[in-house]
Amino acid sequence: MTGVTVITHPLVQHNLTRLRDHRTRPQEFRRVLGEVAALMLYEATRAFSVRKVAVQTPLSPARGFRLSREVVLVPVLRAGLGMLEPILQLLPGARVGFIGLKREEATLRAQFYHQSLPKDLRRMEVILIDPMLATGGSAVAAMNLLANLGASRVRLVNLVAAPEGIRCVRRHHPRLPIFTAAIDRKLNGRGYIVPGLGDAGDRLFGV
Ligand code: PRP
Ligand code: URA
Repeated sequence: MTGVTVITHPLVQHNLTRLRDHRTRPQEFRRVLGEVAALMLYEATRAFSVRKVAVQTPLSPARGFRLSREVVLVPVLRAGLGMLEPILQLLPGARVGFIGLKREEATLRAQFYHQSLPKDLRRMEVILIDPMLATGGSAVAAMNLLANLGASRVRLVNLVAAPEGIRCVRRHHPRLPIFTAAIDRKLNGRGYIVPGLGDAGDRLFGV
């Protein structure tokens, strides 16, 4: 699918499989989700623009690079929180924004309940993080909000995506790059990704 990068790295796939396993308890689920999020970040940031800089090593001048733009990480609450901390360890200078969305069980519509975002998104690289892309309603709602606030360089990082969700995001935001570890088969009648990994938020927080 255009604009979708499936990260096939063996460590990502190994960890995704542990997360899928219904026997994986919340403590391990949290740790492994963090590990896989950090691994996925390498791929998601590969095309970040850099500028040339000069540094002085202990031995001689050297040429190097720095990221051109500030980065803001935006986890979608709750489950996106499980991917935040390990990514922050790799990008300690990043800012963090939050978008709170809860999918209603009956309608599968994402209900907005919280936002806390930096003001100057226009000039930043934004990484929108959420383990699950199911119907796509939450991702589109989050992306609409970011776009309305001027964000133009956004990447969406999902651990598992359903074809239905990808199509929905593509319809509303055709140029948004999506990074995922898997495109699963389908959604079931209750809007869950099959095979998926169940309810990411519940498994993460042991609800
Ligand atoms: C889950 C998941 C996504 C959303 C995906 O969150 O973390 O945000 O569902 O579904 P969609 O693509 O059909 O919108 P949920 O709304 O269950 O909230 P939670 O993270 O608090 O569990
Ligand atoms: N949200 C989840 O946490 N899991 C799914 O399979 C679908 C939506």
